[in-house]
Amino acid sequence: MRSTEQRTQTNSLRYKLKPRPTSGEWLNGVLNIIINHNRQMTTTSQTSMTLASTTDIRASFPALQRVHNQCPVAYFDGPGGTQVPRQVVEAMADYLYHHNANTHWAYPTSEETDAALENARQACADFLHASAKEIVFGANMTTLTFHLARALGAPYGSGDEIIVTELDHHANVAPWHHLAVERGVRVTTVKMVADTGQLDWDSFERSITKRTKLVAIGAASNALGTINDLTRAIQLARAVDALVFVDAVHYVPHALMDIRVLDCDFLAMSAYKFYGPHVGVLFGKLSLLESINFPKLIPAPDVAPEKVETGTQNQEGIVGAGASIDFLASLAGGLSRRARLELAYKGLHERSLELTRRLWDGLASIKGVRLYGPTPEMPRTPTVSFTVEGVASTDVARKLAARGLFLSHGDFYATTVVERLGLGTEGLVRAGCACYTTENEIDRLIQAVAEISC
Ligand SMILES: Cc1ncc(COP(=O)(O)O)c(C=O)c1O
Repeated sequence: MRSTEQRTQTNSLRYKLKPRPTSGEWLNGVLNIIINHNRQMTTTSQTSMTLASTTDIRASFPALQRVHNQCPVAYFDGPGGTQVPRQVVEAMADYLYHHNANTHWAYPTSEETDAALENARQACADFLHASAKEIVFGANMTTLTFHLARALGAPYGSGDEIIVTELDHHANVAPWHHLAVERGVRVTTVKMVADTGQLDWDSFERSITKRTKLVAIGAASNALGTINDLTRAIQLARAVDALVFVDAVHYVPHALMDIRVLDCDFLAMSAYKFYGPHVGVLFGKLSLLESINFPKLIPAPDVAPEKVETGTQNQEGIVGAGASIDFLASLAGGLSRRARLELAYKGLHERSLELTRRLWDGLASIKGVRLYGPTPEMPRTPTVSFTVEGVASTDVARKLAARGLFLSHGDFYATTVVERLGLGTEGLVRAGCACYTTENEIDRLIQAVAEISC
């Protein structure tokens, strides 16, 4: 990880690019920053191509300087939205200050905007191991999924079936249920095993039929941290020629996706869960994006991926989404963005396993605390949900906040999970670890929950 001095140098490099370069020059400039940045990383603290230290990672997040009631704030609310590093905000500010224009016109800032959007598209493609033409931007995952469902489901009818799961966020349920109302499609819901927070695969196999057109499944549960066996789901779907839509919103902040290996048809994610701004990203296989009749304005482009994107995009947000992927890649060394991402994710994963184990064991040792979802040995993200006997989740969250510990509570729109667990409107308290989480913060959380539960 760079020192502050190095960071300043890189930033001033970025600002030296400002005197109105052509779009090609500007993009080359940005690429040079990334290459120089990685050279610096490999020649300083990255000589062994290991992950940047948590201390260095934390230095990029101004939000971590916040103090509440004289306590340093520990952000455990990553599953609801992570904090944003300086590099991402600077990339967005740089775009707005110096390159802001609408797209596809014959003057420098417009050309620079085209180049910036393509650069962000390529970053998302590298992130998923997909092609840039398969990356669609939109307001958020929910909006993109409704848009896709409407277009994909237009030819579906009463003989067709869609599979959703109890474990999913409702953003991967409601868009498909709408097709039941609008087109008479039958929607079948795969059960969750309440004890383990995992999918019931017998229920899955019973649900899938020759009439199944689409399986809509989450890669990981934002409520319980469960990681689903997507390979198994895709195999079952392929056996009946069904398409597969993956909600990867809670998965991609914790594990690197490889679309080419996974071979799903669609996948959605949200940059604000992986250190970026509030922008949604949809992957779709090119042949499908090209063949689906998406509702669009006549003068809008007919080619994928632009034909899927409606109106003027959140361009600064898209630049920020690309920058958040470059931020993640910058945490490790490597020759390509994808190689750096692979190393960074490997290191972050190892770190998060230790944090999860510490958090789980600490909370489990407190009388009156009940933990939900898979144990740390099972495939899971570092998101741990719990309740405290006799204390409403809202009150737990408030008392923790008073100690500078910021956690979300409720059902997180994974409403069916919380219903199946037999929890009322108070739902769960959720502790999510992110790349900036420290062991000390985990210990503070455990200590505070122990105090609240007495
Ligand atoms: C697993 C999961 N899916 C979908 C969503 C919805 O994402 P967005 O807010 O981008 O619509 C969320 C948001 O919390 C989520 O956690």
